[in-house]
Amino acid sequence: MRARTLPASGLVLSRASSSPLICCQCLHNDISNQIALQSRKYHPTRRKSASPFGAAVSAAQTIFKGLPKAPPGISVDPLRMVGKELKFLTKNIRQLLGSGHPTLDKVAKYYTRSEGKHMRPMLVLLMAQATALTPRKGRSNASSPVPVNDPISAPSILADNNPDLNPLVSSSMEAKYDFVGDENILPGQRRLAEITELIHTASLLHDDVIDNAVTRRSSNSANIQFGNKMAVLAGDFLLGRASVALARLRDPEVTELLATVIANLVEGEFMQLKNTAADEKRPVFTDETISYYLQKTYLKTASLISKSCRAAAILGDSTPEVVESAYSYGRNLGLAFQLVDDMLDYTVTDAELGKPAGADLELGLATAPLLFAWKDSPELGPLVGRKFGQEGDVQRARELVYKCDGVEKTRQLAQEYADKAVAAISDFPDSEAKAGLIQMCEKAMNRRK
Ligand code: FPP
Ligand code: MG
Repeated sequence: MRARTLPASGLVLSRASSSPLICCQCLHNDISNQIALQSRKYHPTRRKSASPFGAAVSAAQTIFKGLPKAPPGISVDPLRMVGKELKFLTKNIRQLLGSGHPTLDKVAKYYTRSEGKHMRPMLVLLMAQATALTPRKGRSNASSPVPVNDPISAPSILADNNPDLNPLVSSSMEAKYDFVGDENILPGQRRLAEITELIHTASLLHDDVIDNAVTRRSSNSANIQFGNKMAVLAGDFLLGRASVALARLRDPEVTELLATVIANLVEGEFMQLKNTAADEKRPVFTDETISYYLQKTYLKTASLISKSCRAAAILGDSTPEVVESAYSYGRNLGLAFQLVDDMLDYTVTDAELGKPAGADLELGLATAPLLFAWKDSPELGPLVGRKFGQEGDVQRARELVYKCDGVEKTRQLAQEYADKAVAAISDFPDSEAKAGLIQMCEKAMNRRK
């Protein structure tokens, strides 16, 4: 089978399936190259002028003022950087979700009641700030902010009644944005941050139905609270309103990216329904087992993070190099984040997670810790094949994961991706936002929920 590599993503398109596969060897080489590259980039003698972004940085600094610099090596709290922005995020998201139907209004806003981690919007906002200091392409219309609430079609045609966001008062909404906002974050980037949270929340509403979840963020999950039908429909409603908001950014490239994320999420979820590509009864561990898992992980988790980081840079009119760096950062952080998620399922308690721990094996899922154990313990094959469905399977699988260091090996792989994410933005000029992005990688690695 011949394969074609997509250089920006590290994905390989297989001719036979034309679905994106992450090639194990490419990933391995990629990791080694990046580690070498990273040690060069972080060499203490590196001079600032060595940055390929060079002189354009100072020009950018004159346009985008007010970004404080963090000295190299000093970490900042990313929450502090964008905390003020995030305070308004939930309020704005709830406004986007207003419905004249009182029950739909309630179900759609249900997961916005409790504060989530807001990791995706935080990354978009930090990326917007960090790339504000990098070179711009200089599009002629780049300086005029996009009117993010203005409909494109006539409201009478749209017939989409949102009592919380009346298009006739859109200019006052804009004013609120300007009043609270950091001037280095454009209104379109701020709206993008909200869109990422809408898409993520929609996927959680659907995911909880698929997984028969009972809790989410330490409360009843939406499917338990309102039933499966309403939870699914509310997820659809979120996607609809996210799509409207996306269209109003008036950027086809960004629309293409975020619409593809939605398709990717579904593809990733479909892949997760099977533990291996062949879905045999007695599967044998091969390199493809890991490729399949990483491809699924990219689609399910890293796609939204990587494409929204890319979109943030595009909306900021960044150069192609900066756009690629933002994408690479998001892709690697996204992979690291999901690997840690899969690790935590084996290591923390329900109370810490705010949802049942150990759920993956119960759901029949073979994630990274199990796959590493399977590599050393072929006896896991039949258990994977029957999705740990026989009495004692889950317990036996868990024992083998611990015996074979599956958790530690997962952590190491996650660390490699986190390091690659840091390396991807190493040429960005030093700023608190860049330090915040680096800190997000550390937080992703050290989190307990
Ligand atoms: C959480 O996974 C779920 C996701 C990251 C994506 C789920 C995607 C879908 C259900 C496809 C439909 C998508 C849309 C946009 C409607 P998890 O079950 O591993 O995490 P959890 O433990 O938090 O539930
Ligand atoms: Mg789930």
